[in-house]
Amino acid sequence: MDEEGWTANNHYHRLLLRYVPRNCQKALEIGCGTGSFARLLAGRCKRVVAIDLSSEMIRVARARSAQFENVEFELADVMTWEFPRSQFDFICSIATLHHLEQRELLVKMRDALRPRGVLVIMDLVGSQGLRERVLDVLGLGVSGTLRLIYNGRLQPPPAVRKAWEQHGKQDHYSTTNQIRALADEILPGSIVKRRLLWRYTLFFRNHIPDTSSSMTCKEED
Ligand SMILES: C[S@@+](CC[C@H](N)C(=O)[O-])C[C@H]1O[C@@H](n2cnc3c(N)ncnc32)[C@H](O)[C@@H]1O
Repeated sequence: MDEEGWTANNHYHRLLLRYVPRNCQKALEIGCGTGSFARLLAGRCKRVVAIDLSSEMIRVARARSAQFENVEFELADVMTWEFPRSQFDFICSIATLHHLEQRELLVKMRDALRPRGVLVIMDLVGSQGLRERVLDVLGLGVSGTLRLIYNGRLQPPPAVRKAWEQHGKQDHYSTTNQIRALADEILPGSIVKRRLLWRYTLFFRNHIPDTSSSMTCKEED
């Protein structure tokens, strides 16, 4: 947890880190924001490339990461960024895909993975069915409690709430069924799970015909 305190995104950082392959040489984060996850990756990967469209996000990310020599923050629109092919052992994106054309981006991310490389996505989800709506209500209680414990307040500051209201107006939140259908097509074998705090996670490993595994994945919520 850094200057931003507890958030529903960084709540899941520890879970996502479990999927970083051992001996990770090169990692990519898409939509890195102020860089908190990229800094965690820096401790596990030889080199981290983290990109974001917002110059303010990149400015803050660089300022907070001065001591991390192996992280490179790049100001770029991921939809026009030239993904190198078969380059990354780990690619991730947190709370960003709902801004973007997902099909096109998933193909680019997949093709940028090295053999046995791992792709991890966590993003906001559109709820479907009774079970998920019950989870939404539970999530409200859990996030309020955690925010109170870690940040000393029940809700995010008004400026953040306002930004989220504006933010929500332009975005598209896929349901888990929609994400699974897309993943079955583009990322066969991936695992999509609905999480408590209005998010889903997607894990995919680029399989090659080699049965030995160097990845540990013990899931938790
Ligand atoms: C909701 S924020 C999440 C930031 C960070 N991943 C986190 O967990 O706190 C979404 C981020 O995606 C970035 N973003 C949106 N569209 C993008 C694009 N086309 N290319 C790169 N980054 C983009 C935004 O600037 C923003 O920093």
